[in-house]
Amino acid sequence: MKKKPEELRSHRWFGVQDLRAFGHRSRMLQMGYRHEEFVGKPIVGIVNTWSGINPCHFHFQARVEDVKRGIIQAGGFPVELPALSLSEPMVKPTTMLYRNLLAMETEELLRSHPIDGAVLMGGCDKTTPALLMGAISMDIPAIFLPAGPMLRGNWKGKVLGSGSDVWKYWAEKTAGNISDAQWKEMEAGIARSFGHCMTMGTASTLTALAESLGFTLPGASSIPAPDASHPRMASATGEMAVEMIWSDRKPSDILSRGSFDNALMTQMGLGGSTNAIIHLIALARRAGVPLDLADIDEASREMPVTVNLQPSGSKLMEDFYYAGGLPGFLSTIRDKLKLDAATVNGRTLGENIADAEVYDDDVIRPLNRPVYAAGATAVLFGNLAPEGCVMKPSAADPRLLRHEGPALVFRDYNEMAAQINRDDLDVTADTVLVLQNAGPVGGPGMPEWGMLPLPKKLLEQGVRDMLRISDARMSGTSYGACILHVSPESHIGGPLAAVRTGDIISVDVENRQIEVKLTDAEIAARLAEWQPPDRDYPRGYNHMFARHVGQAHEGCDFDFLDGRKGVPEPEIH
Ligand code: FES
Ligand code: MG
Repeated sequence: MKKKPEELRSHRWFGVQDLRAFGHRSRMLQMGYRHEEFVGKPIVGIVNTWSGINPCHFHFQARVEDVKRGIIQAGGFPVELPALSLSEPMVKPTTMLYRNLLAMETEELLRSHPIDGAVLMGGCDKTTPALLMGAISMDIPAIFLPAGPMLRGNWKGKVLGSGSDVWKYWAEKTAGNISDAQWKEMEAGIARSFGHCMTMGTASTLTALAESLGFTLPGASSIPAPDASHPRMASATGEMAVEMIWSDRKPSDILSRGSFDNALMTQMGLGGSTNAIIHLIALARRAGVPLDLADIDEASREMPVTVNLQPSGSKLMEDFYYAGGLPGFLSTIRDKLKLDAATVNGRTLGENIADAEVYDDDVIRPLNRPVYAAGATAVLFGNLAPEGCVMKPSAADPRLLRHEGPALVFRDYNEMAAQINRDDLDVTADTVLVLQNAGPVGGPGMPEWGMLPLPKKLLEQGVRDMLRISDARMSGTSYGACILHVSPESHIGGPLAAVRTGDIISVDVENRQIEVKLTDAEIAARLAEWQPPDRDYPRGYNHMFARHVGQAHEGCDFDFLDGRKGVPEPEIH
C-alpha cells in the first residue's frame, strides 16, 4: 500500500501549519528550494562518508550527484548528510574504535532531520557495518550504496592485491629479497584508482554481506568503483530509495534469520574477513535476530570456500566482477540459501538471482571444486578462550592447524614491536607468539595487530608462518595461522592475561580446541594476583568507549545501543 504524502515522516516538519513548520519551510526556501520540490515529497537523506583523506571513498563527492539524479527522477528530494569518513589506512589507532561512533552518528542524523528514507554511502571496512547498524536501529527505509573495489594493482607486470601482497612483499623485504627502490615503485602501483581494497578483505566482505542481507540492489557490491556501471547503479539506488519510502520498506521488513543465514553462507563461500564475524553479530543484535559464534562455526562447517580471491585464493575483485560477481556466486549455492529472504527492491533474494550466471569457474568455483574445503572461519573454545576465538584456516599453513608449542608472551604491542626483530630472541618456528592487551578495551578498539610480524631471525631462515594468538583483530587482507578475538580479552582479566612465556599452548583446529596447559586452579591463582594494566582514558570518546564497549563475541557494540530498543522520535518542538 502506497503511503500518502501526509504520512511521510517529513510531513511533521514541512506539511503542518504551525510556528515551527514556518521556520523549517522558510529556511528551506532560504537555500533556494521551492515548496513544490520538497513539501509532500519523500526526503531522502544521503549519508555520505566522503572525505579528502579517504581514498576508498574519493569518488563519493562525484558519485553522490548520480544518487541525487536518481532520487529526483523518481520524484524525491535528496538531502546530503556528510558523516564521519572512517578511512582504514589513515585513522589511528584503528577505525574499529570509531565504528560505533559512525553508527550513532547515522542513527542521530536520520533521527533528528526531516528524513523519510536513506541512501547509505560506504565501503571502506568499518563504514559498511556502522552505516547499517545505525539504519537498522533507526528503522526507516534505507538502501546501501557500496563504494566498489578499486582496480587491480600492477607492478612490473605483476598483479598486486591490497594488503595481502603488502604483507607478502614486506616479509621478502625484511628477508633482504626486495630493494628500497623496488619497494618505492610498488607504492605507486598497488592502489591505482579510487575504491576500496580489491582483495576479499573486510571491505569486499562487508559490502558482499550487505548485498546478501538484502540491503543493496542486485550485483551492486561487485562493481569496480571506476566502472561506468557504478554511477548507473548509484542512480538506480537513489531511485529505489524513493520507491522504498512510498512502500514503507524498512530494515525490519527486510532482515530475518534467513537473511543472516544467507550472509553466513556468503561469508564462508567468499573466504570472508574474520572482522565480518564481529560485525555480523553486532548487526544481528541490532536487528533482534539471535546469532552467535556457534552459528558461525556451524556455517563454516557447512560451506566451503569456493571463491578464488586473495587472501584465501589468488584473484581479485575485478576478476570476481567479470566472473559474474556476487549474484553469480549466489547462483552456485542456491540450495544453501533462504531464497525467500526479502531485499530492498521488494523482491526476494531468489528472484534477484534467478538469471545470474558464472562466466569464469576458476574464479567462482562449483561446490564440488572448492578453493578450501574445510570452511573459512573456525571458532575455537577452551580454557584460553572460554567465550571463543576465531581463525581463518584457509589462509594458514596447514602444519599449524594442529600444533603444540611454548608461548612467547608480549604484554602489549609496544613490547612486541621493540623485541620481535632482536637477533637474540628466544624463538623457533614452533613457538606460539602471544599478544596481550590488544582487545576491545585494551587496544583500545581491538586494533588489527593480530597478524603479529614474524621474528626477523626466523624470516631469514625461511619461516613464513607461525601460530599467533591475541585478543586483537587482523586485517581482512591478512593471512597466516593467527588466532584472533580471544574472548574475554586480557585487559579485563580474561585467561589470556594469565599466560606466561614458556607455558605450553595447544591448538587443534579440526576439533575447535585451544588450551593452555595449566589447571583451572593455576589460571585462577595467576589471575588473582594479576593487576589490570595501568591505563585509563580521562576524557572524550575513548572514556565512553572503554566503559561501554562489549566483547568480541558480543559484536563490540555499545551496551546502550545493542539490541532492538526502538529509536524514539524527536519531540515536536
Ligand atoms: Fe579502505 Fe581497505 S583501506 S577498504
Ligand atoms: Mg582492512
